Amino acid sequence: MTRIAVLGAGKIGEALLAGLLAAGSAPADLVFTERHPERAAELTARLGVRGVEVPEAAAHAEVLVIAVKPQDIVPVLTALAPELRPGTLVVSLCAGIPLAVLEGALPAGTPCVRVMPNTPMLVGEAMSAVSGGTHAGDAQLAAVEKMLGSVGRVVRVPESQQDAVTALSGSGPAYFFYLVEAMIDAGILLGLPRTVAADLIVQSAFGAARMLRESDDHPVLLREAVTSPAGTTIAAIRELERHGVRAALLDAIEAARDRSVELGRAASGR
Ligand SMILES: NC(=O)c1ccc[n+]([C@@H]2O[C@H](COP(=O)([O-])OP(=O)(O)OC[C@H]3O[C@@H](n4cnc5c(N)ncnc54)[C@H](OP(=O)(O)O)[C@@H]3O)[C@@H](O)[C@H]2O)c1
Repeated sequence: MTRIAVLGAGKIGEALLAGLLAAGSAPADLVFTERHPERAAELTARLGVRGVEVPEAAAHAEVLVIAVKPQDIVPVLTALAPELRPGTLVVSLCAGIPLAVLEGALPAGTPCVRVMPNTPMLVGEAMSAVSGGTHAGDAQLAAVEKMLGSVGRVVRVPESQQDAVTALSGSGPAYFFYLVEAMIDAGILLGLPRTVAADLIVQSAFGAARMLRESDDHPVLLREAVTSPAGTTIAAIRELERHGVRAALLDAIEAARDRSVELGRAASGR
């Protein structure tokens, strides 16, 4: 089994540890670093995984996963650099941090992989996109894909596409939450109790998501199948089109991509 250290065991770090354990990693193969001792003790009690300091994490692990907030990455890289063994793979889950920043702060030749995950990792349904750095070969990318495969699905993309990935799947769950929230409001407008409206919409979203993933049909075909002539769905679709919802989504996701580019520039001092 691969020995993995998670640096920064917050929401995403904990979700990864839990997913790795559920997928069969032994607790002894995993460690994490965490700056609050009480949080570390609580995690150890819950998951059976040890909290350690950076030098021990670097000595223990074949794969080091950085899961601190992007603004906290520099001190972590500074602490890590002198401790790193040649060949140890460094995986960053930090949104917007370019591979060049990792490679510039770590010893020359360190294999690095940049990942954009998303919060459904908390329920084992992440969508993660991985990009290899200058010294990360196919074997290292495959190891990262296997690791992230325990908490969801994984695609490989060139780093130049990571801003688009951030805008689509990184922020994507928020767009669905927003849509569900608005649809629950519509149920309340129509006089339904809030809990009933929420149940109706959440289960509809879940069922639609399963159909999207499990059927080979394009979303247009799935929608057409519930859009009968002169029926209720087409009346709603006409209003969505009249309010420009499709154009709003295109603009929104383009704005998210532009913001990701800006944040990446700030992170790399360009
Ligand atoms: N959540 C998302 O939707 C999402 C999506 C894609 C990517 N990501 C990326 O995943 C990373 C983690 O996000 P998150 O939501 O899990 O954040 P989080 O809950 O704040 O977790 C980060 C954890 O790292 C700890 N930490 C900070 N500096 C540390 C250090 N030097 N040594 C050890 N631990 C340290 C933090 O402690 P403190 O509490 O003391 O700060 C916190 O427990 C981020 O880089 C983010 O960009 C998140």
